[in-house]
Parts: sequence; C-alpha cells; structure tokens
Amino acid sequence: MFSARPTKWPYGLILVALVVHSSARGTDTATQPVASNLPPPVHLTAEQDHQRTMDLLHITSLRRGADGNPESPNAANYDESKANLSSKLPDVLVLKNGKRVTNAKLWWKRRRPEIVEDFDREIYGRVPKNTPKVNWEATSTIREMNGDVPVITKKLVGHADNSSYPPITVDIQLSLTTPANATGPVPVVMEFGLSPEVLASFAKRFPQMQPPSGPTWQQQVLAKGWGYAVLIPTSVQADNGAGLTEGVIGLVNQGQPRKLDDWGALRAWAWGASRALDYFETDKAVDAKQVGIEGHSRYGKAALVTMAYDQRFAIAYVSSSGAGGAALYRRNFGEQIGNVAGTNEYHWMAGNFLKYAGPLTPNDLPVDSHELIALCAPRPVFVSGGATKGDGWVDAKGMFMAAAAAGPVYRLLGKKDMGTAEFPPMETPLIDGDIAFRQHSAGHTPAPNWPTFLTFASRHIVKEPSVASGGGR
Ligand code: GCU
Repeated sequence: MFSARPTKWPYGLILVALVVHSSARGTDTATQPVASNLPPPVHLTAEQDHQRTMDLLHITSLRRGADGNPESPNAANYDESKANLSSKLPDVLVLKNGKRVTNAKLWWKRRRPEIVEDFDREIYGRVPKNTPKVNWEATSTIREMNGDVPVITKKLVGHADNSSYPPITVDIQLSLTTPANATGPVPVVMEFGLSPEVLASFAKRFPQMQPPSGPTWQQQVLAKGWGYAVLIPTSVQADNGAGLTEGVIGLVNQGQPRKLDDWGALRAWAWGASRALDYFETDKAVDAKQVGIEGHSRYGKAALVTMAYDQRFAIAYVSSSGAGGAALYRRNFGEQIGNVAGTNEYHWMAGNFLKYAGPLTPNDLPVDSHELIALCAPRPVFVSGGATKGDGWVDAKGMFMAAAAAGPVYRLLGKKDMGTAEFPPMETPLIDGDIAFRQHSAGHTPAPNWPTFLTFASRHIVKEPSVASGGGR
C-alpha cells in the first residue's frame, strides 16, 4: 500500500540529484576499486523474508492479528470491558536483579541501559556500530512566503557514504524552513513526512481526513517564530519487507538479509532523523538544542523511537502511534502484536519481535511501551490519539496508560508526570507536566492536536535560549 523504494522526489530535485549521484559514484569507485565488484543486493519478497525470519526463529505459525472488519470472527476488540491488561506491566523502576531504582544515578547507569537492551534485542533491533557517514548537501535555498510569513526554505540531500557497498545508494531527503526575519537561531519542529504516494493512499483510506481549515501545522509553528523541517523516511529505508536488503539497512548489511536482532525500519527512520539533527547542528539558522520531532501513525511510532534513542531531541509530538508505538502491548484493544508481526508491518521491527506472535505472548515481552516513553525522560513528550470511532485501532487509552506508567521515571528525574492515572474525558488536555496527553474527537489524524501540542511545547521550548544569561526555563 505504501511506496516501495524511495525513488519519488517530491521536491523537484531530480535533475540536481542525478548530477550529485553521478559525481558521488565517481568518487566512490575511484577510492574503493574493490568494493565496486560486490554482488547486487539479494532480492526477496516481503513474504519470503518474513518466512526466512520465522525459519530462523523455528516458528511454524503466527497468531493472526486483529481484523479491521467488525463482522470477522477475529474482529478487533473495541470493548473497554474486555481490553484489560493481560498481565501486570514490568516495573520500570525495578532492576532485573529485583532491586528498586531509587535515584537518578541508578536509572542512568543501570536501569535505563537494561531497558534499552531489551528494546534493541527483542523489539526494534540494534543499530549497527558502523553506520555510514552522511554528507549533507543543500541543493536549493529559496525565499518564499508561507501564508503571510516570509521564510527561507532549504532543500537538502543527505548522501550516505556507500563506499563499502556501492550497489546501494541512500540519499536522504530533507527540507528546512525558517522565518526570513529571524534574528538568530530558531527552534525547529521536524516532521516525518509522507511522500506524495502515501498521502494519496491516506486520502483514499481516510476520506474524512480533509486538510483542516485554518493555519497548517507549519504556519502554526511559524506563528511562534520557530522553523519547521520535513524528513522523508522512505528515502532512508523503504516501508516494506522487500526493501530490507536495500536502504540504509541493506547498505550496512551489504545487500544481505537481516539477522534476528538487526534494526528494522523504525530505527532506520529514527537514525535518519538523528542525521538530520547532525545537519541542524551545523546550520546557523537552527537552534539545534531545541529541535522537536513529530510523526503520525507509523511515523508516530518512529517519532517516539527517535525521541527515546537520541537524547539530543528536545521534545516529541507522538500522534496516533498505536501498536509498536505508545500503546501497551499487553492490552487487547484495536491493533495487536499479530498485526505488527505480519508481512505488511514486520519490517518496522526486529526479526526477534515475531516470537511474540508465535509461541510467546505479550506477557512474555521483557518490556512494554511505558518503558519506551520512560526512555524519553526527562524531556517532554506529547502523546496523542483520536476517538475510538475513527481511530480506535491505535488504542488511545492504552497509550494514555503507558504515558501514566512512565511517570515514576519523570518524577525520579525531578520532572512532572501527567498528574493523573485516570483516563480523561475526550479533548481534555493534560499538558501541565512533562508527559502530556490529549485524545481528540476526530479520526486518524494529527491535525486537531497541533494547537495543544504547541501550547505544551511553548512551556519547554523558548525562542531565545536563556542558557547564556542563566535565566530559567
Ligand atoms: C496500519 C497499521 C498501523 C499504522 C498505520 C499507518 O493501520 O496497522 O500500525 O500505524 O497503518 O501508519 O497508517
């Protein structure tokens, strides 16, 4: 349903890119004559690679996921009285040896690394030690208007060094827009953007998802005096299993299929966001200490993974991330592990994740998603979802419960939790602490919660960083 390889260039960069490609290739072959003889990437369909992963795990069948069709005998559950946690959540502040974590030092030195290791090995996969260097090139800089705000937009391409395996090219697409009249570096909110093909498919699947009236999210960000950026994740890693021997994952694996604990697309997309942040650190228009990350749906998952793993990101807006994102795996409401482990979605995750839709169950997971949110602490995170009617698949209450269960870590680090463990009425913003939540009444869309996110963000992100003056945030 989504684009295969990142071959579409929504920003009209085709000509520029072709020039860049040929020169980059020329350099690679000149400096790495041996590498150019390497065989092309292995080609497997998603089904073949999925089966290969099951074989490696010695699994013969997977539990099927919930069915979106309400008539199906296996229909997704949307009845809260049947959604109960299937077991107690792992305690985010208890070490594997049973000892309680009572201070920040123990959290950072012992417990946090334990949680990271579990997510790496079992859920999202490990980012390899040697990932390619990315060389950012500004392909155009233009002055334009967004609404009534004059802005400067840079189109950038991040060329991943492919000298170790020239058959694969990864060129990351990024655009950055800052207010033209800014007097210094500005905070930036970066979105995991949809490529045009994905946008078209969304419009078909969710006809109610019309562009909202009023200012766009970009205009709302500009109204704060901040800038915005859009990263195209599929230019880092394709959104399908067949692409796992290409993109940055394939590049590092020299075109070979993944090991069971290798990274999946979510971590690859997050890696791309981190490389974009590396670029922002070199661009004087950006206050790189105040860069936020936002994403919706599968990119909501990616936004949360980005925030959890890269502590340089200042804030996150995690929209409708659902299963594999902020929703608790141990709940039965909407999407289930069987769905995420299926052939359409498994590529987001590590191969090992499939086990939990096979012989194992959600109860066997060493972690749950409250611990992913806890990895973001002490930095502010906004968790968002829509109404059950229209967005039930993402289990807003399961995401709320995860956000609440991350609270002890925020408190341990001297920050504020959401202030309640009771699911709030629809459209009630919980934005006074450092973990925030709001369920909007629309369907599968981030739009209605942008204003609330920006109100929350304004308390944490300031236009002029006050570090030098010693002033407080
Ligand atoms: C499917 C999938 C979700 C995902 C969503 C999307 O519905 O099951 O996990 O978030 O697609 O990204 O649109």
